[in-house]
Amino acid sequence: MGLPLAKKLIEAGHIVKGSTTNRDKLNSLTSEGISPYIIELFEEGIQGDITSFLGNSEVLIIDIPPGLRKDPEVNFVAKIGRLKSYVEKSGIKKVLFISSTSVFEDTEDLPTYSEEDPANGTAENAKQLIAAEELLKASEAFETSVIRFGGLIGPGRHPVNYLSGKSGLKDPEGPINLIHQEDCIGIIKAILEKEAWGETFHGVSPEHPTRKEYYSRIAKEKGLGSMEFDEEKASKGKRIDSKKIGEELEYSFKNRI
Ligand SMILES: NC(=O)c1ccc[n+]([C@@H]2O[C@H](COP(=O)([O-])OP(=O)(O)OC[C@H]3O[C@@H](n4cnc5c(N)ncnc54)[C@H](OP(=O)(O)O)[C@@H]3O)[C@@H](O)[C@H]2O)c1
Repeated sequence: MGLPLAKKLIEAGHIVKGSTTNRDKLNSLTSEGISPYIIELFEEGIQGDITSFLGNSEVLIIDIPPGLRKDPEVNFVAKIGRLKSYVEKSGIKKVLFISSTSVFEDTEDLPTYSEEDPANGTAENAKQLIAAEELLKASEAFETSVIRFGGLIGPGRHPVNYLSGKSGLKDPEGPINLIHQEDCIGIIKAILEKEAWGETFHGVSPEHPTRKEYYSRIAKEKGLGSMEFDEEKASKGKRIDSKKIGEELEYSFKNRI
């Protein structure tokens, strides 16, 4: 999401510095008008010129997933802690942390969670995201807003691609919580424009059909192989309500999922 977001912010007249861990991307970032930096967060410290990267900036957008699927041992909170101490020295006063709706637990009663509900996820990924949100919000040097996005749909990217052709899929009756990349960018821009700092937002499209109904339909529409769900076990899930986006940011979703 970082690159398309940077492009839209540049179009809107912002000056954008962008980080990558990959030297091969430097030229393509430059050609998009981004000032590129090689920065990588580690638990033990940060590789790259983080002081120049953060210097003379007004806002930092942290758009990095915890990465627990790739490495279940990773300590994402420690990485964010390293970053936090540099941000506190940088003069940046506003941070936007991109989090995930996985901070909420999936249960059999399929609860609805709004921005007022306390994050209750118990999986390692959830616990680390919650701790990272809290760590940033606790800073006295800068204000943090958190936006928890649902599963991302974007060019060449759709969760159905991972499900098509599979069998024994869990949670057929679980509601889906997805969002289109264009809406993610629209919401981030609205937070910047409205100066909505110190807040927590949910970014999930208001449509919540069941997983079975939705993914079966989309697979058909896209001409992908069908899939089979495990109907024996009770479904777990949740519905994420994003009411603050309409009420406080006056943002309305542009894309149907
Ligand atoms: N994907 C989803 O369905 C989903 C759902 C909810 C929320 N989110 C959130 O949305 C945000 C964007 O997700 P995404 O799926 O677009 O992520 P992504 O494709 O994995 O991209 C994140 C980028 O962060 C950079 N990065 C990763 N580890 C890093 C590290 N240790 N230090 C510095 N940079 C690092 C990498 O940049 P380079 O490759 O250029 O090095 C990576 O491509 C994340 O905050 C994620 O938690 C995603």
